Amino acid sequence: MTAVLIERVSKVFNAGRPDEVTALSDVDLTVGGGQFVSLIGPSGCGKSTLLRLIADLIEPTVGTVTVAGKPAAQARRDQEYGIAFQQAGLFEWRTVRRNVELPLELREVPKAERRARAEEMLALVGLADFAGHYPAQLSGGMQQRVAIARALAVHPPLLLMDEPFGALDEMTRERLQAELLHICAKTGTSTVFVTHSIAEAVFLSDKVVVMSARPGRITASIDIDLPARDEAARQSPEYFEFVTSVRKALRA
Ligand SMILES: Nc1ncnc2c1ncn2[C@@H]1O[C@H](COP(=O)(O)OP(=O)(O)OP(=O)(O)O)[C@@H](O)[C@H]1O
Ligand SMILES: [Mg+2]
Repeated sequence: MTAVLIERVSKVFNAGRPDEVTALSDVDLTVGGGQFVSLIGPSGCGKSTLLRLIADLIEPTVGTVTVAGKPAAQARRDQEYGIAFQQAGLFEWRTVRRNVELPLELREVPKAERRARAEEMLALVGLADFAGHYPAQLSGGMQQRVAIARALAVHPPLLLMDEPFGALDEMTRERLQAELLHICAKTGTSTVFVTHSIAEAVFLSDKVVVMSARPGRITASIDIDLPARDEAARQSPEYFEFVTSVRKALRA
């Protein structure tokens, strides 16, 4: 089953006004079931816009977005995906634990199970000791990890992640990359992941989609066929070859 199908999508903001911006132009993209796809490209090329279109937070000007075989709006109502965006987007008046529990509450998951799932996800992102804290008491990177825990808590069939590891130190980032791959493989989750890191995109992805500056277009789509994705893979010649291919595509 195809997780995401984007067909001939263009997005124009403020159409007909002096500040009109064509953020995306004629984009086609397919994310297969269980596939991990990264979007990479210069700042302002429309990566977040593309993710927001998939999440049905905005509508395309032209073209169609299909998620899990349904129109994007229906997929949103059916809660087909979890999102972790550039800004953590936590609720300041809720504790860390209750932020992670929120999507489970919306799905009417019973309290005990909710609590257990939140604890499990917080342990995964290394924040077990901070469940009772409020977001304002955490660093930026810790807040980002709460947002990741919240996105993962419902085990969504599709994960939409916008630079989720941007504010993390390199070691935490590598650990969470490995955990994310592990979770996705175990649960068959499909993922669309925005990053500015070529190394991160290559390590995580089945496919790296390279975008050009405004108006955002897809200029290359590179299949990353790595034999393994463990720590050794980060040192392998194949890995460096893919990193070089993506870098060349970005420069082109
Ligand atoms: N709500 C909006 N109203 C008007 N213009 C917008 C809006 N959202 C995005 N844009 C414009 O669309 C273009 C693409 O923005 P977008 O946020 O998708 O870029 P991005 O690739 O995610 O960049 P970055 O890597 O810096 O996060 C930019 O020119 C931006 O100004
Ligand atoms: Mg962005």
